[in-house]
Amino acid sequence: MRPFLFPALAIYSASSSYRSIAGNWQAVPNSIQWIDARKHRTQILLDSIPEGDFKAIRFSIGLSEAVNHSDPNLYAAKHPLNPSFNNLHWNWQTGYIFLALEGTYRQSNGQLSGYVYHFANDPQRTTITLTLPKNISGNASLDIDFDIAALLNVPSPISFSKDGASTHSREGDPIPQALKRNLPGAFQIKRIRAAAPIRADTRPLPIDLPDTPTPYPFKLGNRLPIPSLPLDNPLIAERIELGRRLFHDPQLSIDDTIACASCHQEDHAFSDPARISAGVNGQFSRRHSMPLFNLAWKDSFFWDGRAHSLREQVLIPIEDPREMGESIDHVIEKLSADADYPTLFSNAFGSASITPLTIGLALENFLLSLTSYNSKFDQAMSGKAQLSPSEQRGFELFMTEFEPRSRQYGADCFHCHGGALFHGQPLSR
Ligand code: HEC
Ligand code: HEC
Repeated sequence: MRPFLFPALAIYSASSSYRSIAGNWQAVPNSIQWIDARKHRTQILLDSIPEGDFKAIRFSIGLSEAVNHSDPNLYAAKHPLNPSFNNLHWNWQTGYIFLALEGTYRQSNGQLSGYVYHFANDPQRTTITLTLPKNISGNASLDIDFDIAALLNVPSPISFSKDGASTHSREGDPIPQALKRNLPGAFQIKRIRAAAPIRADTRPLPIDLPDTPTPYPFKLGNRLPIPSLPLDNPLIAERIELGRRLFHDPQLSIDDTIACASCHQEDHAFSDPARISAGVNGQFSRRHSMPLFNLAWKDSFFWDGRAHSLREQVLIPIEDPREMGESIDHVIEKLSADADYPTLFSNAFGSASITPLTIGLALENFLLSLTSYNSKFDQAMSGKAQLSPSEQRGFELFMTEFEPRSRQYGADCFHCHGGALFHGQPLSR
């Protein structure tokens, strides 16, 4: 096997249990977990482990049938089964991906090519049993090695070029069968250590709330997962109102001609029907303006994902010479001299302090409130409207794989635009 680069791995483990000296298996409740090598999320903390001496550990890669087909939208924002959090929900019909292995490999002609192995579907659920080198009791930390070369080779060797560089784990596909045979041998206990100290809860506190904030009811449909809203910037009516005002205000640009809303037009899903948008001084944006809705489910912004929060993102167009061409300091001067803004800021933050942070938080609050969940498509999915025959054909093409091996000739869009939000499947990142 040639070396591969950037392997990304995600594993579901459900119903872990420990084997005590006495020889009976004891289940650990609430032990569904996931790990993600690309995000460096490789530690799992299990509590409520029963007292006693233990000599083996057992866990499954994959979920029970009932959990696999449960409604993904019922899981809290940071629950391991929340599809926005783990990016592993296949789509609303076929449950979760149990293990996603993606990367590049070198072909025999020297060229790099991609591979995507998605191990999923109920029959693939695999139990792993590991004997501990010494009995453990009390708090302990286990380092478990996962050997990807073994997963691809022992006992059933898989070849990207001969067997195929992609699998969606359909019935009869030999790749998931080989992965299932290889999985148990790919795990090994590396060492047992004293338990690592548990980190203190670092929930951020709300920033500068006014004395009597008016909570804003965040609206989402029941087809959408629960998003992870910023805890330090709770949605309140006063902040949304201020953000809406800023969004429509051309004073944010150098010559008071361009507002955010000039390029993000409400009638066009807060995008621009033009391919590129007019900015200040007769200039144009380099790229197409992006639609602004359901941003609460995203964790990176711009086409290339270069901004990691909305509060950072919103300050960038203000200073972009092609867009608004203004300096934040000058915007603050203009807003401070305005008849209304000092009061609006004081309603939203408890004081009239106009800073890059408060401007960012107000725009973030407004943008997070823009949700879409009742389109014709949403209505059709919940049986309240009917797609036209050509819309229905488009939907089927969109949702069908391109996998000639199993005679599937769809447009395969859903792999990158997957789930209820049409974004964020592992392949697309
Ligand atoms: C001149 C046109 C223009 C103006 C003015 C403008 N934008 Fe944008 N906006 C764009 C373009 C173009 C992109 C994509 C740019 C990129 O990817 O580099 C974008 C991207 C965004 C995104 C990212 C959305 C996502 O899903 O990742 C947000 C949020 C946003 N703009 C908010 C704002 C706000 C708030 C303002 C006002 C402070 C603003 N924009 C002003 C053109 C504009
Ligand atoms: C390999 C991943 C991948 C596949 C497959 C894919 N897309 Fe995309 N799509 C993207 C990415 C990434 C973007 C963001 C734009 C960019 O980076 O060029 C995008 C952007 C889009 C946009 C623009 C969205 C907007 O807000 O302006 C549309 C529409 C779209 N895709 C439709 C489709 C359709 C229809 C298919 C199937 C025929 C498809 N895509 C297949 C990755 C993919």
